[in-house]
Amino acid sequence: MKITFYGHACFGITIGDTNIIFDPFISPNENAQHIDVNSIKADYIFLSHGHADHVADALTIAKNNNATIVSNYEIVSWYGAVHNYGNGHPMNHGGSWTFNFGKVKYVNAIHSSVLPDGTYGGNPGGFVFETSQGNFYFAGDTALTMDMKLIPMFTTLDFAILPIGDNFTMGVAEAVVAADFIDCDTIIGMHFDTFGYIMLDHEAAKSAFAQKDKKLTLLGIGDSMSL
Ligand code: NI
Ligand code: MN
Repeated sequence: MKITFYGHACFGITIGDTNIIFDPFISPNENAQHIDVNSIKADYIFLSHGHADHVADALTIAKNNNATIVSNYEIVSWYGAVHNYGNGHPMNHGGSWTFNFGKVKYVNAIHSSVLPDGTYGGNPGGFVFETSQGNFYFAGDTALTMDMKLIPMFTTLDFAILPIGDNFTMGVAEAVVAADFIDCDTIIGMHFDTFGYIMLDHEAAKSAFAQKDKKLTLLGIGDSMSL
Protein backbone atom coordinates (compact mmCIF):
# COMPACT_ATOMS: atom_id res chain seq x y z
CA MET A 1 0.00 0.00 0.00
CA LYS A 2 1.48 3.33 -1.07
CA ILE A 3 0.59 6.44 0.95
CA THR A 4 1.24 9.94 -0.37
CA PHE A 5 0.70 13.11 1.67
CA TYR A 6 -0.72 16.09 -0.23
CA GLY A 7 -0.84 18.41 2.77
CA HIS A 8 -3.29 19.11 5.60
CA ALA A 9 -5.70 16.14 5.68
CA CYS A 10 -5.23 15.08 2.07
CA PHE A 11 -3.69 11.71 1.34
CA GLY A 12 -3.52 9.47 -1.67
CA ILE A 13 -3.53 5.77 -0.91
CA THR A 14 -2.98 3.19 -3.61
CA ILE A 15 -4.41 -0.26 -2.94
CA GLY A 16 -3.53 -2.62 -5.76
CA ASP A 17 -4.46 -0.66 -8.88
CA THR A 18 -7.07 1.48 -7.11
CA ASN A 19 -6.19 5.10 -6.32
CA ILE A 20 -7.99 6.69 -3.39
CA ILE A 21 -7.83 10.35 -2.37
CA PHE A 22 -8.88 11.60 1.05
CA ASP A 23 -10.07 15.13 1.85
CA PRO A 24 -8.46 17.09 -1.00
CA PHE A 25 -7.41 20.62 0.00
CA ILE A 26 -4.48 21.42 -2.24
CA SER A 27 -4.97 24.47 -4.47
CA PRO A 28 -5.88 26.79 -1.53
CA ASN A 29 -3.10 25.36 0.68
CA GLU A 30 -0.11 27.71 0.61
CA ASN A 31 2.13 24.85 1.75
CA ALA A 32 1.08 22.62 -1.17
CA GLN A 33 1.61 24.91 -4.15
CA HIS A 34 4.11 22.44 -5.64
CA ILE A 35 1.36 19.82 -6.00
CA ASP A 36 -0.48 19.80 -9.33
CA VAL A 37 -4.12 18.96 -8.60
CA ASN A 38 -4.70 18.06 -12.22
CA SER A 39 -2.01 15.38 -12.11
CA ILE A 40 -3.73 13.49 -9.29
CA LYS A 41 -5.29 10.18 -10.23
CA ALA A 42 -8.32 8.98 -8.31
CA ASP A 43 -10.82 6.18 -8.61
CA TYR A 44 -12.46 7.19 -5.33
CA ILE A 45 -12.52 10.37 -3.26
CA PHE A 46 -13.36 9.89 0.41
CA LEU A 47 -14.60 12.98 2.25
CA SER A 48 -14.73 12.94 6.05
CA HIS A 49 -16.92 16.05 6.34
CA GLY A 50 -17.96 19.16 4.45
CA HIS A 51 -15.51 21.82 5.62
CA ALA A 52 -13.67 23.60 2.83
CA ASP A 53 -10.27 22.49 4.12
CA HIS A 54 -11.39 18.92 3.29
CA VAL A 55 -13.39 19.28 0.08
CA ALA A 56 -11.85 22.25 -1.78
CA ASP A 57 -10.49 20.26 -4.73
CA ALA A 58 -12.87 17.30 -4.59
CA LEU A 59 -15.00 18.30 -7.55
CA THR A 60 -11.99 19.09 -9.75
CA ILE A 61 -10.34 15.75 -9.02
CA ALA A 62 -13.65 13.91 -9.31
CA LYS A 63 -14.41 15.38 -12.73
CA ASN A 64 -10.85 14.88 -14.00
CA ASN A 65 -11.03 11.19 -13.17
CA ASN A 66 -14.75 10.38 -13.12
CA ALA A 67 -14.02 9.32 -9.54
CA THR A 68 -16.66 8.10 -7.10
CA ILE A 69 -17.20 10.45 -4.16
CA VAL A 70 -17.74 8.51 -0.93
CA SER A 71 -19.01 10.39 2.09
CA ASN A 72 -22.07 10.75 4.25
CA TYR A 73 -25.49 10.92 2.61
CA GLU A 74 -25.78 14.70 2.91
CA ILE A 75 -22.44 15.45 1.23
CA VAL A 76 -22.86 12.93 -1.59
CA SER A 77 -26.38 14.28 -2.22
CA TRP A 78 -25.02 17.85 -2.31
CA TYR A 79 -22.57 16.97 -5.09
CA GLY A 80 -25.46 15.50 -7.04
CA ALA A 81 -27.96 18.30 -6.45
CA VAL A 82 -25.72 21.40 -6.45
CA HIS A 83 -22.88 20.32 -8.75
CA ASN A 84 -24.75 17.81 -10.90
CA TYR A 85 -22.06 15.28 -10.04
CA GLY A 86 -23.89 12.02 -9.50
CA ASN A 87 -21.00 9.57 -9.23
CA GLY A 88 -21.21 9.13 -5.48
CA HIS A 89 -21.63 6.49 -2.84
CA PRO A 90 -23.52 7.66 0.28
CA MET A 91 -22.86 6.12 3.68
CA ASN A 92 -23.80 6.81 7.26
CA HIS A 93 -22.38 6.03 10.68
CA GLY A 94 -21.81 2.39 11.54
CA GLY A 95 -22.43 1.17 8.04
CA SER A 96 -19.96 -0.79 5.93
CA TRP A 97 -19.73 -1.39 2.21
CA THR A 98 -17.48 -3.72 0.23
CA PHE A 99 -15.87 -1.92 -2.69
CA ASN A 100 -13.62 -3.56 -5.30
CA PHE A 101 -10.52 -2.70 -3.18
CA GLY A 102 -11.90 -3.80 0.20
CA LYS A 103 -14.42 -3.07 2.92
CA VAL A 104 -15.01 0.39 4.38
CA LYS A 105 -16.90 1.38 7.52
CA TYR A 106 -17.99 4.95 8.18
CA VAL A 107 -17.34 5.67 11.85
CA ASN A 108 -18.02 8.46 14.28
CA ALA A 109 -16.02 11.66 14.59
CA ILE A 110 -16.58 14.44 17.10
CA HIS A 111 -16.47 17.61 15.03
CA SER A 112 -18.88 19.69 12.90
CA SER A 113 -19.72 19.72 9.21
CA VAL A 114 -21.09 22.34 6.87
CA LEU A 115 -20.53 22.59 3.13
CA PRO A 116 -18.81 25.61 1.52
CA ASP A 117 -22.13 27.19 0.44
CA GLY A 118 -23.61 26.87 3.93
CA THR A 119 -25.56 23.67 3.24
CA TYR A 120 -25.84 21.30 6.19
CA GLY A 121 -23.08 18.72 5.77
CA GLY A 122 -24.45 15.91 7.91
CA ASN A 123 -22.42 14.49 10.75
CA PRO A 124 -18.65 14.23 10.30
CA GLY A 125 -16.99 10.84 10.22
CA GLY A 126 -13.92 8.75 9.66
CA PHE A 127 -13.30 5.62 7.60
CA VAL A 128 -11.99 2.19 8.58
CA PHE A 129 -10.57 0.25 5.64
CA GLU A 130 -10.07 -3.51 5.54
CA THR A 131 -8.16 -4.60 2.45
CA SER A 132 -6.05 -7.52 1.30
CA GLN A 133 -3.01 -5.22 1.59
CA GLY A 134 -3.75 -4.13 5.16
CA ASN A 135 -6.22 -2.33 7.40
CA PHE A 136 -6.22 1.33 8.37
CA TYR A 137 -8.28 4.10 9.94
CA PHE A 138 -8.55 7.60 8.46
CA ALA A 139 -10.00 9.56 11.37
CA GLY A 140 -10.95 12.82 9.65
CA ASP A 141 -11.24 15.83 11.93
CA THR A 142 -12.14 14.61 15.38
CA ALA A 143 -11.69 14.99 19.08
CA LEU A 144 -10.54 12.03 21.09
CA THR A 145 -13.68 9.96 21.59
CA MET A 146 -14.51 6.78 23.47
CA ASP A 147 -16.14 5.54 20.25
CA MET A 148 -12.63 4.88 18.93
CA LYS A 149 -12.55 1.89 21.29
CA LEU A 150 -15.16 0.21 19.10
CA ILE A 151 -12.80 0.04 16.11
CA PRO A 152 -10.42 -2.70 17.34
CA MET A 153 -13.39 -4.81 18.40
CA PHE A 154 -13.98 -5.41 14.69
CA THR A 155 -10.73 -4.57 12.87
CA THR A 156 -7.04 -5.12 13.57
CA LEU A 157 -5.41 -1.95 12.28
CA ASP A 158 -2.00 -1.85 10.60
CA PHE A 159 -1.83 1.93 10.71
CA ALA A 160 -3.96 4.99 11.37
CA ILE A 161 -4.02 8.55 10.08
CA LEU A 162 -4.93 10.85 12.97
CA PRO A 163 -5.29 14.63 13.32
CA ILE A 164 -2.73 16.02 15.76
CA GLY A 165 -2.71 19.79 15.21
CA ASP A 166 -4.94 20.74 18.14
CA ASN A 167 -7.38 23.70 18.28
CA PHE A 168 -9.82 22.30 15.64
CA THR A 169 -9.16 18.63 16.41
CA MET A 170 -7.40 16.61 19.05
CA GLY A 171 -3.80 17.49 19.75
CA VAL A 172 -0.78 15.28 20.33
CA ALA A 173 -1.60 14.23 23.91
CA GLU A 174 -5.10 13.09 22.89
CA ALA A 175 -3.84 11.42 19.71
CA VAL A 176 -1.43 9.30 21.77
CA VAL A 177 -4.43 8.08 23.78
CA ALA A 178 -6.42 7.59 20.59
CA ALA A 179 -3.67 5.27 19.35
CA ASP A 180 -4.23 3.21 22.49
CA PHE A 181 -8.01 3.24 22.03
CA ILE A 182 -7.69 1.91 18.47
CA ASP A 183 -4.92 -0.52 19.48
CA CYS A 184 -2.52 0.74 16.80
CA ASP A 185 1.10 1.81 17.24
CA THR A 186 1.80 3.03 13.70
CA ILE A 187 0.39 6.53 13.29
CA ILE A 188 0.61 9.05 10.47
CA GLY A 189 -0.16 12.62 11.52
CA MET A 190 -2.40 15.07 9.70
CA HIS A 191 -4.12 18.44 10.16
CA PHE A 192 -1.03 20.37 11.32
CA ASP A 193 1.04 23.37 10.13
CA THR A 194 -1.55 24.55 7.55
CA PHE A 195 -2.82 27.51 9.57
CA GLY A 196 -1.43 29.52 12.48
CA TYR A 197 -3.84 27.79 14.84
CA ILE A 198 -2.38 24.35 14.20
CA MET A 199 1.39 24.78 14.11
CA LEU A 200 3.11 21.65 15.39
CA ASP A 201 6.41 21.01 17.16
CA HIS A 202 7.35 17.95 15.10
CA GLU A 203 10.08 16.60 17.37
CA ALA A 204 7.99 17.01 20.51
CA ALA A 205 5.07 15.24 18.81
CA LYS A 206 7.25 12.32 17.70
CA SER A 207 8.79 11.94 21.13
CA ALA A 208 5.35 11.99 22.83
CA PHE A 209 4.42 8.95 20.73
CA ALA A 210 7.83 7.32 21.19
CA GLN A 211 7.46 7.55 24.99
CA LYS A 212 4.44 5.25 24.65
CA ASP A 213 6.28 2.90 22.27
CA LYS A 214 4.38 4.22 19.27
CA LYS A 215 5.70 5.59 16.02
CA LEU A 216 4.46 8.89 14.63
CA THR A 217 5.33 9.62 11.01
CA LEU A 218 5.02 13.17 9.67
CA LEU A 219 5.31 13.11 5.90
CA GLY A 220 6.48 16.11 3.92
CA ILE A 221 3.96 17.41 1.41
CA GLY A 222 4.39 15.37 -1.74
CA ASP A 223 6.25 12.59 0.06
CA SER A 224 5.21 8.92 -0.05
CA MET A 225 5.75 5.86 2.08
CA SER A 226 4.85 2.20 1.76
CA LEU A 227 3.21 0.19 4.51
NI1 NI B 1 -13.25 20.38 9.86
MN1 MN C 1 -10.28 20.58 9.08
